[in-house]
Amino acid sequence: MEKFVEFPENFLWGAASSGPQTEGNYGKAHENVMDRWFHTKPEDFFDQVGPDIASDFYHTYPEDFALMKKIGFNSFRTSIQWSRLIKDFETGEVDPDGAKFYQSIIDEAKKNNITLILNLHHFDLPAELLDEYGGWESKHVVDLFVKFAKACFELYGNQIEYWTTFNEPMVIPEAGYLYGFHYPNYKGKGKEAMQVIYNINLASAKVISLYRSMNLKGKIGIILNLTPAYPRSNSQEDLDASEFTENLFNRSFLEPAIKGEFPKKLVEVLDKDGVLWESSQAELDLIKKSTVDYLGVNYYHPKRVKAQDHPEQFKEPWMPDQYFEEYEMPNCRMNKYRGWEIYPKAIYDIAMDIKNNYGNIPWYISENGMGVEGEQRFAQVDGFIEDDYRIDFYKEHLAWLQKAIKEGSNCFGYHAWTAFDCWSWNNAYKNRYGFIAVDLKTQQRKIKKSGYWYLDLTKNNGFVYDLEQKVE
Ligand code: BG6
Repeated sequence: MEKFVEFPENFLWGAASSGPQTEGNYGKAHENVMDRWFHTKPEDFFDQVGPDIASDFYHTYPEDFALMKKIGFNSFRTSIQWSRLIKDFETGEVDPDGAKFYQSIIDEAKKNNITLILNLHHFDLPAELLDEYGGWESKHVVDLFVKFAKACFELYGNQIEYWTTFNEPMVIPEAGYLYGFHYPNYKGKGKEAMQVIYNINLASAKVISLYRSMNLKGKIGIILNLTPAYPRSNSQEDLDASEFTENLFNRSFLEPAIKGEFPKKLVEVLDKDGVLWESSQAELDLIKKSTVDYLGVNYYHPKRVKAQDHPEQFKEPWMPDQYFEEYEMPNCRMNKYRGWEIYPKAIYDIAMDIKNNYGNIPWYISENGMGVEGEQRFAQVDGFIEDDYRIDFYKEHLAWLQKAIKEGSNCFGYHAWTAFDCWSWNNAYKNRYGFIAVDLKTQQRKIKKSGYWYLDLTKNNGFVYDLEQKVE
């Protein structure tokens, strides 16, 4: 039976984005690691399109905010690029042009009545800090990040209600050190990846502690990509594999962020294997007391896991894969353009996990979305893109989310990925995710069908839907 799927009052509606994926590199004195990747290996990127122009947000932001307003947004997330705001990483000296640009973004959001969520790190480590210190493997880089955060808080602290320290920090060790699908494209560096996990948790805690010491009036959180690990079967081996995967890929950030501690079982395994991170008691005490005010959850797909049949292959060098193996569940729904399973119920499972195991902390969906290759095939004669597949994707995920809210999960908003088509780490503009289409040749914008659908959704604070019919 169709019913009205209604959301709480004052729900945050909008979308997320990031500096490195939208702005373009105009006026930036430093490269970040993604710029470096493109400048050294453009062939790694779809159609060899890089971040130098991206979606030109550096120039088009007034139009973009107006369009976001037009499709019903009351909020929007982007990030401050460390490599744009800071002139001298060691001293934290600010680049005046960078500072002016981010002030314009804040002013424009305000002008449009759009609450801005500002994030401090979206995979965009300055490349020089990788060259000089080994990036997030180094605790000196942790301290330089705190200097960057301090500059952000001094400049904009009281103008922003919602700050976040990192976006999807787990992707940095996973993609950069374990499996090589992001720059610096290392593979098999298991031990180093574990230190990176620790150092980024430490960096987040140090920034939270700094924020609190400055007596600013907003809130500070972190954005995690949670990918629930569902076991293939109820055999003990598969259950152990899924528990390890959960602890490593989700809870190694979730637990410290909310409870101030690392998952005990993970620490035991890493210690036994001789790959536990280097830490001090003073750091662990700081992590313990510097937990988040709220959580952002990026949800795209689950992980399906089973016991590892060939653990011996992953012992030298040490890799976490000796404890689990991912597999594609037969007959699952797939977005074949991205290789990600579509499983909307996981959003409910995440919401209930936060409610039941994490003190029902305030949280929001900070990213959820879907893009396909060749979206232009849905364009009408006037170029209007009828992206019904995206509307269906959103409806189904939102219906599961609302069910969890009705059951008491403390979710205060939903951000889609993304507002206007933007650049992606090596897929570039292959899979378009936006409510607003961007023509890369002219940088012209055009609202898609999903954008008008979002306007209706936000006006009504809900939509009519029959979740039961959809239950798999
Ligand atoms: C998230 C990131 O992982 O997913 C975004 O926070 C990213 O930066 C988005 O763009 C979609 O993934 P992708 O790789 O298809 O761009």
